[in-house]
Amino acid sequence: MKPRIVILEAIHADGVAALRRFAEVEIRLGLSRAALLDTIGEFDTMVIKSVTRVDAELLAVAPRLRVIGRAGTGLDNIDDTGAEARGIEIVTVPTGNTVSAAEFTIAWILGLCRRLPETGRAIADGDYRRELLRGRELATLGVGLVGLGNVGMAVARRLQPFGCRIMGYDPAPPDPEGFKTLGGILTDSLDVLLPQIDILSLHVRLISETRHLIDSAALARVKPGLLLVNTARGAVIDDAALLDALNDGRVAAAALDVLDPEPPFDAEPGSVAFDHPLLRHPSVTVTPHMAAETEQAQQRITATLVRKLEALLVR
Ligand code: MLT
Repeated sequence: MKPRIVILEAIHADGVAALRRFAEVEIRLGLSRAALLDTIGEFDTMVIKSVTRVDAELLAVAPRLRVIGRAGTGLDNIDDTGAEARGIEIVTVPTGNTVSAAEFTIAWILGLCRRLPETGRAIADGDYRRELLRGRELATLGVGLVGLGNVGMAVARRLQPFGCRIMGYDPAPPDPEGFKTLGGILTDSLDVLLPQIDILSLHVRLISETRHLIDSAALARVKPGLLLVNTARGAVIDDAALLDALNDGRVAAAALDVLDPEPPFDAEPGSVAFDHPLLRHPSVTVTPHMAAETEQAQQRITATLVRKLEALLVR
C-alpha cells in the first residue's frame, strides 16, 4: 500500500509531483486547528513548514503518523521529544535556504540604510523631497549578527565586501575562526555587542534561551537610531519592548520577516482575521516569512525532502 502524505503548508510544485510518484498525496493548506486535528489521523506522513504546530495534542490524534517532513530548517513548531518518544521520524532540510535567507537579509540591511520603505511611501504620497530621505552608507556602519550558524555566517560573508564593521555574538559559535577570517569581531555577550552596532540582524533558532532575547533590557543598551532586521523567529523579540523602542527612536526602523504569531500564509486574503501590534507601525516593514521563498531555495528544499521521505517510506 502506498504511504499517505498530507501537505499542510505550500511547497514547490516539483516536490508535490515527485511525492505523487510513490505516495498518495493530499494537499490541505490553511486548515483551522480543529480541521487539522480532525484530519491528521488519516495520514502516516505530514509535510509542513514553520506554521503547523505539532504538539502533544496533535500527536495524540495522529496514531498512524510515522514521519514529519519539515520543508525547511527550524524545529520550534514541533514537539520533537514527544515525536521521538512515539518513534516518529522528523526529516528536515537544514541548509536548503541558507543562500536565500542571507541574500534577503542583505537586501533589508541595504534597504533600511537607504530608507527604501519610507521612500516608497513618500512617492506614493507624491512627496519627492529626496533630502528628507537621506540615508546612511553601510560602509561606515557596524553590523551586529546575533547567531553565527549557517545563515549568520552566510550573511557575514556577503557583508565583507561592503567594508562595514562586522560584529557577532553567539554563545557557542560553530566556526569562530571562520568568522574572524571574514574580519568579524566576536563579542562575549549581547550586552557588549548592542552598544557598538548600528544595525542588528537576528539569526538564532527559537529555543527557551532565545525567546524574547531582544527585550526591554537589551533595547535599553542600543545606540539610538538602530536598524533592526529579523529573519529568525518573531518570538526572539519582545514586541512590547520593540514598540517602545520604535516610539522613542532607539530603533529607527525594523524589517520583520517573522512575527509572533505568524499570519495565515496559506489562507485566501481576508478569509482569516489577523492583526498584530507591529503591522501598522510607520517605522516597521513586515514581510510574510519569505526569506526562503525563492524558486531556487524552494526547489532545492523540496527535492531534498522528497529524496529523504522516499528513502524512509519506500522500502
Ligand atoms: C525555516 O525554518 O526553514 C525557515 O524559517 C523557512 C520556513 O520554514 O518557513
